[in-house]
Amino acid sequence: MTDPALPATRDQASRRAEALRKDIDHHNYRYYVHDDPAISDAEYDSLMRELQAIEAHWPDLLTRDSPTQRVGAAPASQFSQVRHALPMLSLDNAFEEQDLLDFDRRIRERLALNGDVDYVGEPKLDGLSVSLRYEDGVLVEAGTRGDGRVGEDITANMRTVRSVPLRLRGERVPRRLDVRGEVVIRKQDFEHLNRQRLGADQKLFANPRNAAAGSLRQLDSRETARRPLTFFTFGVGESSEPLGNSHAGVLDLLAEWGFRVNAEIGRLSGVEACLAYYRELVERRDSLDYEIDGVVFKVDDLEAREALGFTSRAPRWAIAYKLPAREATTRVRAILPSVGRTGVITPVADLHPVEVGGVIVSRATLHNMDELRRKDVRPGDQVMVRRAGDVIPEITGVNLELRPEDSVPWEMPTTCPVCGSEVLRLEDEVDYRCQGGLVCSAQRIGAVLHFASRRALDIDGLGEKIVEQLVERELVKTPADLFSLEHPTVAGLDRMGDKSADNLIAALKQARETTLPRFLYGLGIQHVGEVTAQRLAEHFGDLDPILRASEDELVQVPDVGPVVAQSIAHFFAEPHNRDVIQALRDAGVRWPVVQGRRDEAPLGGKSFVLTGTLETMTRDEAKERIEGLGGKVTGSVSRKTDYVVAGESAGSKLDKARSLEVPVLDEQALIEMLGGQESAS
Ligand code: IVH
Repeated sequence: MTDPALPATRDQASRRAEALRKDIDHHNYRYYVHDDPAISDAEYDSLMRELQAIEAHWPDLLTRDSPTQRVGAAPASQFSQVRHALPMLSLDNAFEEQDLLDFDRRIRERLALNGDVDYVGEPKLDGLSVSLRYEDGVLVEAGTRGDGRVGEDITANMRTVRSVPLRLRGERVPRRLDVRGEVVIRKQDFEHLNRQRLGADQKLFANPRNAAAGSLRQLDSRETARRPLTFFTFGVGESSEPLGNSHAGVLDLLAEWGFRVNAEIGRLSGVEACLAYYRELVERRDSLDYEIDGVVFKVDDLEAREALGFTSRAPRWAIAYKLPAREATTRVRAILPSVGRTGVITPVADLHPVEVGGVIVSRATLHNMDELRRKDVRPGDQVMVRRAGDVIPEITGVNLELRPEDSVPWEMPTTCPVCGSEVLRLEDEVDYRCQGGLVCSAQRIGAVLHFASRRALDIDGLGEKIVEQLVERELVKTPADLFSLEHPTVAGLDRMGDKSADNLIAALKQARETTLPRFLYGLGIQHVGEVTAQRLAEHFGDLDPILRASEDELVQVPDVGPVVAQSIAHFFAEPHNRDVIQALRDAGVRWPVVQGRRDEAPLGGKSFVLTGTLETMTRDEAKERIEGLGGKVTGSVSRKTDYVVAGESAGSKLDKARSLEVPVLDEQALIEMLGGQESAS
């Protein structure tokens, strides 16, 4: 897309700029205030570029409220001060129901009211308080709360926040108006921001509030412009004109002027309605798209507010009913290695129990050793714990001042705390893993399921529910135990009838006759997938030479690099694993020796593509048989393809084969090629 030409005259440019500003502003408003875009990002960018070009050519046409000013300005050396015309006060807190009942009673007493007071309930957003000054409808100054009277001038930064109108919408706007509200980063924006920072190797923000604070404190507003800040208004400070007689009415005006007013805000009659509103919001806390730390209740009637007045620090007409905090401090009693279903060992902090967000927490994950070292958490440390939503509690910081003098960093154990096998961290990997995959009780269910899976020993009827029961009743501790299962035991499991028990026993019997690649794959060695298993089998021919192979010998195998070789060697060096392999052999699990290397095999070096449905075998079986004879099966047809095997309703691959003149085989021809010969498997 080429940018439109510049207008011919200054006059035309001025009119075009005016129209563009209106347009951009409108789309901005739809997107950032109502989450309801009407044009694509590309179209929006193109309008913006056109306006920028005009302003660059006629700099005197640039206005303070131009949307181009949202990209940020050159860095300031420090923030100057702003004085708030009306102080930015704080709020009194309520921590329990009784506090709210008392608040309501005081108000009724002071106002000499018998009936219910009308309140407005608002989520208390956990961000930063900001005051925006508008003169003749144009944003002229923005300040932080500071000490309530004097704050820092963050005008350049607030101009970059898209939900802040640079000019109030509508015709009737006060000459002077201070708009008050909270700057936040919404949860999904926060996660996106942290992901970006992770990618750029920058320090992660502990929570959305810190991220918002850090973003507003930028001296370089171009940086602020890159942060996903949102401004929610919750009221006004000074206004040159009266704004009606209710707070709800003021919020309606603010919405008309183009501000984002929280959609959860509700009018409530009487304190019981306030309590219900609070309970409901606490319940929905996790599904809101921003963090809240309380609910604010405000007397709706502005005249009544006047009568109630202020204490030195807070209005008498409002109260913040706090939510259970999501962060708390506590002590790390110990760090424990926790072995997961896949053998990954995670350091977990065992905490002195503490209430976080309404739940007692006594454990927090430290994710992995890199994370643990980065945070430098040690046993005995005093730490901040955070619980956001349903996620596992996390340690967000350590209080180093309170660290015991004899504290030492925690080290990962060298043997698995569950089964005593070796613990290994492969080069280039983050996780430490228990190498006793076949014996470790923490990994049993996963190991048995993998061993029985379709591409491994393919034991029909051995699903998750059955394996779970077998493992939980300790009938199966390793895959080898499967083969000593007997009919009455199996039939006694939940969801097992006589018939399905018969079938399972038969399937187990049949599964003993397997292939070396399937067996190797089924062992669940880290980094040994089907292809590697196949290569190992081709290279060594049988299991025993693999058991004996050194890492140097293993890297001779195609597709096996040093990390994979290390993983294989350590797996087979583990005596527990060898015991299980022996037990499997004793149970009658066997496979034919793999004859010859790939290139000497009958189909050595030949590549096949399978398409359509075959009648006498599945595609997986065909693949296995072709590979067993040294052939290769790939997914797409190219000039290098030797044969395309076309079954029923073959599609575009067949067309491609024809256009490239690749020989096409039907099922019969394939069977002949596999030719009565037993495949290597
Ligand atoms: S009203 C005089 N409403 O909470 C009334 N404050 O603890 C002043 N806050 O500094 C504030 N959401 O930063 C009000 N809906 C809301 C709020 C809210 C968050 C913050 C605000 C204020 C602090 C007071």
